[in-house]
Amino acid sequence: MTISKMFLNINGAVRMVVYEPDDNLANVLRQMGLTGTKVGCDAGQCGACSILLDGKVTRVCTRKMKSIKEFSKIITIEGIGTPTNLHPIQMAWIAYGGVQCGFCSPGFIVSTKGLLDTNSNPTRQEVRRWFQRHRNICRCTGYKPLVDAVMAAAQVMRGEMIIDELVFKIPESGRIYNTYYPRPAAVAKVTGTSDFGADMNLKMPAGALQLALVHPKVSHAKILSIDTSEAEKMPGVFKIITHKDVKGKNRIFSPVTGPYNKCNSWDRPILNDVKVHMYGDTLAIVAADTRKNALAAAEKVKAELELLPEYMDALDVLADDAVEIHPGTPNIYVEAPCIKGEETESIFASAPYIVEGSFYTQRQPHGVLEPECGMAYMDEEGRVTVHCKTLALQAVIFWAAAGVGLPPEKIRVVENPTGASFGSALTPQAAALMIVAAMATGKPVCLELQYDEHTHFTGKRAPSYSNVKLAADKDGKLIGLEFDAVLDHGAYSEKAELVATKTSRYMGAGYHIPNILGLTKVVFTNHSFGTAFRAFGSPQAYAASEQVMDMLAEKIGMDPLEFRYINVYRPGSTTPNGTELSVHPLPQLLDMLRPKYKQTLERTKQESTPEKPRGVGIAVGVYNVCGGENDTSNIDLELNADGSVTSWNGWEDQGQGADVGALVLTHEALKPLGLDPKQIILNMNDTALAPTAGPAAGSRSHFMNGNATIDAANKLMNAMRKPDGTYRTHAEMVAEGIPTRYTGTYTTIGLTSALNPFTGQGDPNLEYMYGVFMAEVEVDTKTGKTKVLKSTMHADVGVIGNKLAVDGQMYGGLAQGVGLALSEDYQDLKKSNIIGLGIPAIEDIPDELDVEYLETYRAPGPFGSIGCGELPLTSPHAAILNAIYNACGVRIHELPAYPEKVIAGLKAIESGKVTEQAKYDLGPDFRERLAEMKLKYIASTQKT
Ligand code: FES
Ligand code: FES
Repeated sequence: MTISKMFLNINGAVRMVVYEPDDNLANVLRQMGLTGTKVGCDAGQCGACSILLDGKVTRVCTRKMKSIKEFSKIITIEGIGTPTNLHPIQMAWIAYGGVQCGFCSPGFIVSTKGLLDTNSNPTRQEVRRWFQRHRNICRCTGYKPLVDAVMAAAQVMRGEMIIDELVFKIPESGRIYNTYYPRPAAVAKVTGTSDFGADMNLKMPAGALQLALVHPKVSHAKILSIDTSEAEKMPGVFKIITHKDVKGKNRIFSPVTGPYNKCNSWDRPILNDVKVHMYGDTLAIVAADTRKNALAAAEKVKAELELLPEYMDALDVLADDAVEIHPGTPNIYVEAPCIKGEETESIFASAPYIVEGSFYTQRQPHGVLEPECGMAYMDEEGRVTVHCKTLALQAVIFWAAAGVGLPPEKIRVVENPTGASFGSALTPQAAALMIVAAMATGKPVCLELQYDEHTHFTGKRAPSYSNVKLAADKDGKLIGLEFDAVLDHGAYSEKAELVATKTSRYMGAGYHIPNILGLTKVVFTNHSFGTAFRAFGSPQAYAASEQVMDMLAEKIGMDPLEFRYINVYRPGSTTPNGTELSVHPLPQLLDMLRPKYKQTLERTKQESTPEKPRGVGIAVGVYNVCGGENDTSNIDLELNADGSVTSWNGWEDQGQGADVGALVLTHEALKPLGLDPKQIILNMNDTALAPTAGPAAGSRSHFMNGNATIDAANKLMNAMRKPDGTYRTHAEMVAEGIPTRYTGTYTTIGLTSALNPFTGQGDPNLEYMYGVFMAEVEVDTKTGKTKVLKSTMHADVGVIGNKLAVDGQMYGGLAQGVGLALSEDYQDLKKSNIIGLGIPAIEDIPDELDVEYLETYRAPGPFGSIGCGELPLTSPHAAILNAIYNACGVRIHELPAYPEKVIAGLKAIESGKVTEQAKYDLGPDFRERLAEMKLKYIASTQKT
């Protein structure tokens, strides 16, 4: 190895640096401890590694050290401001909600410094152009808060605003609930001092091993042998681990239940032993002294594979001659019916208005900036402790314990600061591999995937095919819906049944449709596995049902908004699952939208040109809150000696704001104690320290953890309360032998009922979120490119706990909706980095993200609140697709709306050869299958 040396001026100090000339500047800075410079894509595509190099914004993951001049002036995030001396840009980032997961924040803030150093008074357009040019990507915020923050920081730096205006002021009431209180983790995130997983890996004690994974790089094969002999001789290798080293069952347990489930829930190997099921599977783990050595040795592991047919799409695997991907389990392995009201055949036979449509939604990637990472080690109590990105601490234990061969109590899970997940961190695969490696080596181990590898390794939103038919009566009232849908859940079954039930529950949701006959089937393929993704299961449904709503409105000759208005849920309406709702905000939300909609329709007509027509589309979205009929959360509150209170909680923070959620709920619940928010200490996300709160998924956390917090607060205050109504101090509690720590619990057990698995009828959820979406688009008829000019959302997510966090969720979800509609996909395995995946950059997202709320109080929720994170990605894409049709007459049936699809549609219109989208062949007739299910249901009720 050759080493070079030079002096660099880093953050104002001249420092001697030694390095390998072929290494890049990002790595060298990070090894020096300057881990505020993050590495995401490692390919110059995301901007996370941006620094100022001689005053210029530079992505240093692609800057080789040999290209850096001696005495170059380098400013990293650590040189911009510190936690006790924040720069105005950092202050503005905190005040305007620029921080969610915060992985992009250092890069954006450094980039902003570069901009404002050269242009102290930029327009919003100039700010956006700058971030576009410097490829600063954010997956969480929808970019709008970031531009807001830049504009405010610039005002401060020009002396037009005092910095104090950026500091949140607690209202006189002392309440911080329902305010813009900033999230506690923001200071560490904007200063680069928050250590994410890869940063922690660099700071592990000497002797920790670095891991590299060996992947098969084929999608379907039998494993004949794995040869590690050559790799074992590579420099620095400590051990190579294969399935033979796994002490347990070597399978992840991911429960899939229900009478129509045909898989055994143990289909996923930790280290593949018999077969390869997808490209990102893992054949071996190399543990070595350095990451570089581990990666080099991983290349030398040889596997003899017998290639099998690769089924990369649901339609392929539905073919009669397709082999079983998991031998013994049929490729169609889960079915979720929806049978509501009267039989639909006669309704469709006599309905005056009927439309049919077939739709495909793609394999949407989560597109987080931070690849999978973490570490595992033996702790002082003999537990294997794993630090990872999980959104479900307990799932790591209960899904992986038998597989790795440890009793659950011997596994401790800690969530690292996480560079977002949006659902992908449900999978405990990376954690299981780290635990296996720590057990096999007896050493602390660290893992950091490369970005492409991360894409192949992690789950995605399950693609869907659906054939849909919708009927209305002569007055435009919906009378019937039929659908046949297939979800391509990829190689593994993780939560497949849950996703399928969501697709069946949200097809046609938002409207009273008295009669529904529908079936969602799940199939295995050899593509990446389906997993949780914001609003999971519902965007697939809404892509179909919200487009056929528009098609039916057109057929009847009604305005799409007015057609929706007469059909949305009102008192007496029932959901597709046949249940009534506690509140009915959709008519009011549409009333709020109507004036804007009319104005926008009028304006777009005037602004349209033949070359660039503009259009408006709307859609309705509804999603449930909490995990269902057996959801439980526990939170501990403890009074400390100094009068502060610690919240011991397992509210996983993926960037959505678990910290500020826990803070405002605890503060509100303990209001009688009159605490300052700073007197609430958050000790979060360590299974050894906090009770089980459940996953940060399904918009459940604020609702479930909030109610558990209230219970804990009441127990604590009851214990503190003296006969005269004042409160005991900690010292008085101790002196009287009164415990100072209390567990609060909230459960839905007994409050809701499970879906009937034979009919899909029932209601496992106490509350729902409601939204109406409006998109304004411009279509370039020459290129086929669609630009979303404005995205509007009117939402009812109950009383808002923290406005910054909820706004942030809405903006971020709307931006992901643009990606879902227009650009995002992971079908082509070669397109596995940020650009190839189609993750939107700032100029792909409109600056105008208009979000308004109706805050209908929800009695079962904490302080009238529910949840919010899923709602903004239920159906924003459908509004965009409807807007494309409104603009140019092209109906996009298969997402994303790539320019070539729009061009093909325009050509068909021009040539007068517009044909109906052909129905998909989705396997056995769904009506016959549903009839069988109905008989089974009748038989089961007769038995009881
Ligand atoms: S641009 Fe360097 S990590 Fe993405
Ligand atoms: S806050 Fe920007 S990527 Fe998460």
